[in-house]
Amino acid sequence: MSQETVQPKWRVDKLEVFITEEQLRQRVAELGAQISRDYEGQDLLLVAVLKGSVVFLADLMRYITIPHSVDFMATSSYGAATESSGIVRILKDLDMPITGRNVLIVEDIVDTGHTLSYLRRLLLEREPASLRIVTLLDKRERREVDVPLDYVGFEIPNAFVVGYGLDFAELYRNLPYIAIPKEGFFDDDD
Ligand code: IMP
Ligand code: MG
Repeated sequence: MSQETVQPKWRVDKLEVFITEEQLRQRVAELGAQISRDYEGQDLLLVAVLKGSVVFLADLMRYITIPHSVDFMATSSYGAATESSGIVRILKDLDMPITGRNVLIVEDIVDTGHTLSYLRRLLLEREPASLRIVTLLDKRERREVDVPLDYVGFEIPNAFVVGYGLDFAELYRNLPYIAIPKEGFFDDDD
């Protein structure tokens, strides 16, 4: 470990549960059932955006009862900041071609919409048979670019959230619920 590495404190005591584990389980099950019905008898490829989407993907795919495959992409994140720069960079591309396939992008959260809007255009150039989007969370009032969302888990207000895959400075992805920071969460270490 480098001495310069500043690891923020684990402040789970300064978090408030916003969407419970049970609410997530129920809604993800509904989305899985709906997707299974909509793609019945068809080819389906889930494309998850690393890293925030992995927890959602892992749960969602177990509620999708039809045959499907998964692939991953990675885009640049905000780092430790909580605001989108509007600049998107591909850090890892898909392993497989998607031409002629039914692609369903799996996202954790749509905020400004820049990430998905860019990704969507990029994947459409490869001429999939269809391209849809499922997002667990939709922060609609923050939208700067319009992106068509086909499946939405929960619409949430304009607040920074962590848990269930979503991080702050790479922490809290493992929380089984979605949480909102309380006073003091972002304070410098004392
Ligand atoms: P957008 O490009 O502004 O829509 O940002 C999308 C990405 O920013 C998401 O896939 C997340 O990785 C990240 N993000 C946006 N809002 C939050 C949040 O409230 N908590 C954690 N990550 C977030
Ligand atoms: Mg993401």
